[in-house]
Amino acid sequence: MSARQSSKGSTLRRILVVNGPNLNLLGQREPDQYGRATLKEIEDELRRYAGSHETELRFVQSNHEGALIDAIQSAIGWADALVVNPAALTHTSVGLRDAILAADIPAVEVHVSNIYRREDFRHRSLIADVVAGQITGFGAFSYLLGIQAALHLLDTRRSSGA
Ligand code: DQA
Repeated sequence: MSARQSSKGSTLRRILVVNGPNLNLLGQREPDQYGRATLKEIEDELRRYAGSHETELRFVQSNHEGALIDAIQSAIGWADALVVNPAALTHTSVGLRDAILAADIPAVEVHVSNIYRREDFRHRSLIADVVAGQITGFGAFSYLLGIQAALHLLDTRRSSGA
């Protein structure tokens, strides 16, 4: 079995899930805004889903912009897709935007809260136009939707030969 083949003989999809500053505090951080699920619980749920969908996941969370950029660069050649919640860096980081562009890996942007129902400064995402699409406002479930969107992207690209 090649590295890219799942036990069922079909192609394994690889997704890097990237989480930005303060998301390590999910579960205790502003629960009215972000809910009670911890990042570990969210990751466990995603792993369970991936396990039954021929998908391998890796996770990175950092409070440091450069570490996130390094992680995205390191995903080149490994990841078929990125699911990214840049957190506060969504609204500020040209560096993260450029890393997504440079990596040239299809990406889905996710947010736990609905950024458009919050302060004006959260309405602008510097990565929105370099990702395939955005999922915002579904709580912890946004991440599962993000994985599903990424898999859908990969499946449609594969079947269209793109
Ligand atoms: C967030 C929204 C951002 O505006 C905020 O800075 C975060 C989390 C979300 O998931 O809802 O840290 O990305």
